[in-house]
Amino acid sequence: MELVDPHVRFHRSFLEAYDELAAAGQERHAGLPFFGSGEPLGPEFTREAILTPDGFASMVRLVVGAKNPFAPRPAGWVPWTELWMAEGDEYLGRITLRHELNDALLTWGGHIGYSVRPSARRRGYASAALRDMLQVAWARDIDPVLVTCDVDNVGSRRVIEDAGGEYEDTREGKRRYWIPTTVG
Ligand SMILES: CC(C)(COP(=O)(O)OP(=O)(O)OC[C@H]1O[C@@H](n2cnc3c(N)ncnc32)[C@H](O)[C@@H]1OP(=O)(O)O)[C@@H](O)C(=O)NCCC(=O)NCCS
Repeated sequence: MELVDPHVRFHRSFLEAYDELAAAGQERHAGLPFFGSGEPLGPEFTREAILTPDGFASMVRLVVGAKNPFAPRPAGWVPWTELWMAEGDEYLGRITLRHELNDALLTWGGHIGYSVRPSARRRGYASAALRDMLQVAWARDIDPVLVTCDVDNVGSRRVIEDAGGEYEDTREGKRRYWIPTTVG
């Protein structure tokens, strides 16, 4: 597995992964950026919207550009770096680093979020991706990072604790951990 920039070559595989997530009731982890109703900034990226090469390309352009603080992004979102887990042209999952914390991220979302497609789980990919993303955070002078998981998310909790997460507290059903990036 390698972490790569999002790219249009993953179109077919990304859709397959989306369908796996949807079958598991986990579409919200597919990472389609949404702009919310009434936002003038851009389209809403539904599965239907990314079926065409042009639609997928515009989503890829948005997530690649999201690290630019001046790029358009959904209301309430901060700039983020998004990388995809891949093997060749096979999309396996995604990981994002939010460059700063707002109130919602401080309570709930944290700096880093990740998901692995169901058919690729339990192979160490989330753990490896998190380790690599800690380096990216360190390079951006973000230290430590906040990473959270639902209280009942056993897999994610294991990933965070294996990466050296120091538990702070639980807020609104989220276990909150700080991970130093200097030792990532
Ligand atoms: C949580 C998730 C990212 C884990 O991804 P993964 O690639 O399967 O995780 P890893 O293979 O790196 O697993 C790390 C450890 O957790 C364990 N683990 C993973 N999933 C587990 C599960 N469902 N139950 C128990 N243990 C689990 C692994 O066995 C491994 O243990 P080890 O360190 O002893 O080897 C993945 O299940 C997922 O995408 N879930 C939906 C999205 C999500 O919850 N994202 C996190 C939001 S905070």
